Amino acid sequence: MTDKKQTRAASGAGMSGAGAKADPPVHAASISGEAIEILMHEKRRFEPPPGFSRDAHIRSLEEYQQLYDRSMTDPEGFWAEMAEQNLHWFRHWDKVLEYDFDRPQVAWFIGAQINVCYNCLDRHLTGEGRHKAAIVWESDSGEYRTFTYGQLALEVNRFANVLRKHGAGRGDRVSIYLPMIPELAIAMLACARIGAIHSVVFGGFSAGSLADRIRDCGACMLVTCDGGMRGGKVVPMKAHADEALRSCPTVEKVIVAERLGGRATAMEEGRDSWWRDEMEADDVDDYCRPQELDAEDPLFILYTSGSTGAPKGVLHTSGGYLLYAHLTFKWIFDYKPGDLHFCTADVGWITGHTYVVYGPLSNGATLLMFEGVPAYPGPDRLWRIVDKHQVSIFYTAPTVIRSLMREGAHWVEKHPLKSLRLLGSVGEPINPEAWMWYFENVGHGRLPIVDTYWQTETGGIIITPLPGAMTMKPGSASRPFPGVAPQVVRRDGSPAPPGEGGYLVVDKPWPGMLRGTYGDPEHKRVKEVYFEKFPGKYFTGDGAAVDAEGDYWLLGRIDDVVNVSGHRLGTAEIESALVSQESVAEAAVVGFPHEVKGSGVYAFVVLRQGYDGSDDMRRVLAAHVASEISPIARPDKIEFVSGLPKTRSGKIMRRILRKVAAGETQDLGDTSTLADPEVLDEIVAERL
Ligand code: PRX
Repeated sequence: MTDKKQTRAASGAGMSGAGAKADPPVHAASISGEAIEILMHEKRRFEPPPGFSRDAHIRSLEEYQQLYDRSMTDPEGFWAEMAEQNLHWFRHWDKVLEYDFDRPQVAWFIGAQINVCYNCLDRHLTGEGRHKAAIVWESDSGEYRTFTYGQLALEVNRFANVLRKHGAGRGDRVSIYLPMIPELAIAMLACARIGAIHSVVFGGFSAGSLADRIRDCGACMLVTCDGGMRGGKVVPMKAHADEALRSCPTVEKVIVAERLGGRATAMEEGRDSWWRDEMEADDVDDYCRPQELDAEDPLFILYTSGSTGAPKGVLHTSGGYLLYAHLTFKWIFDYKPGDLHFCTADVGWITGHTYVVYGPLSNGATLLMFEGVPAYPGPDRLWRIVDKHQVSIFYTAPTVIRSLMREGAHWVEKHPLKSLRLLGSVGEPINPEAWMWYFENVGHGRLPIVDTYWQTETGGIIITPLPGAMTMKPGSASRPFPGVAPQVVRRDGSPAPPGEGGYLVVDKPWPGMLRGTYGDPEHKRVKEVYFEKFPGKYFTGDGAAVDAEGDYWLLGRIDDVVNVSGHRLGTAEIESALVSQESVAEAAVVGFPHEVKGSGVYAFVVLRQGYDGSDDMRRVLAAHVASEISPIARPDKIEFVSGLPKTRSGKIMRRILRKVAAGETQDLGDTSTLADPEVLDEIVAERL
């Protein structure tokens, strides 16, 4: 993996060209013009298999182009038609769209009433649909359970009644801290049924991260479990939850699912009760009437890291989000009723919300939910699952592909994988080498791959190939989904010409986009983060280039966000975790290219007087970050320095630190504004 092309793949951040000179809030990063050139030199092209196109929802580039043009010239007509054809509405809308990107404010299907849970369950229960599998759940140790739509609906209805019984209702926030077990989907759908807003917190987050997220949204309830199983090990989730709840006074009720069994977990009298006891109570009915909600009623909050401050609670609403989840799932994964869809993402992230839960279920699809990890008990676990359950659509992250690639193709070759018909990738740029490995070894050179670009904020995929319609170019995410109007712009907002790296923005609203962040009713924060840099446009925080044919090549984050194994982390969060440790005086964190993770975390740390920069200290600090945030955030490299490179006004020059971390020490760029140039020599000399 020392190929030049790999540098881009794993570089995490960057652009060049006219927009490349700013420092925060949006700065230039480490990708050079040369890297863009290498990337766009990728000349391999693969046409969709003819048989695939013939049966696909969208069969040709012409068909896509017609749809796309229609969605641009008549967006309201296009989306109204999609909404009518694809979802059940209790009340029709009075108006399709109102928006103003300056305030910013966006509303879709104004006046309409809908229930997301009804669309995901009830409408599939007529006739044979009731007995179709909705969820196939595979446990960490390889047992499995299947829930038909009828069975799932019963669980969801009863749990919705449990939530109601404990006082949760429309607009209340319910935090969910669960591993990948069916109760997670059940709890989400139950919230959606009664109009409560769910806030799922990834099970790998620490007690402190959980507490921050519960407090921010003022949840009245927490749904958790006794413990999780990952790679044969127990994760003590209830213990984390108990620790978090010490600082979360709004939570009055905790419902604890039994994953480990044995009821050995300590329960707090009056606050905690077991899921099973709640579900089996005599006063809990089998049916809970779905609440008729406004299309713009919030469906969920999902916290995500940004370049500054604490993670933001991105807010998605009901009608637009569901329509977007539904349609992107159907067209991009070319969903057919016989498919089994396996998305390996955890439901704690947006990919799991949209393409494990809402997209598949609203289409009446069968989804596979996997509790474990790709390398347990062996590096062929995912391929075993594919064969065992006859998975037809497989959706994973480049970091997973790269880590399995490293184990060797023989792990894949042992498995026929004949049931597969489509592969997908998400979470970070996929380097052409990983793409080719996936294509040849998993897809046997005959399956389309959809490299899907999107974000927590976009709700669903916004740039992607449509598998029956588009030529695949390894490393390119292809074209915008109908209704989405991306542009690559220079720093002054003017369009970047083909081949020039620039800032990726979106010019028009689409139904799945965020409506705000929780606790920001005036939309001040949203405006500052997403709409101020390029007035009138949504700014993604990513760099991109478009080639002469109109295909998009994503270049990674260009703000202070690192994408570690497809998980988004703010460097500011990691810095504040580091400085909360008693030995640390100051810290600066940047991403650096990492072969498997995409980006690794590189921390420059100034210790307080009396502390030694030893390997032991490195271990202490890494463990501290893991316990403050999550093991995902653990720094890969910690360099002890006596000072950080700053401008005369005291601003850390991260641009330089990124270059040092990436090993580009020959070309550190303009260092003339450095207050203390000697610091830099030391930093370069001590580079790890
Ligand atoms: O940098 C982009 C990268 O992941 C970021 C969004 O992270 P998150 O909100 O956690 O959502 C991840 C799953 C949708 C983006 O800003 N990203 C995601 N998919 C791709 C990607 N970068 C390049 N190509 C992709 N296919």
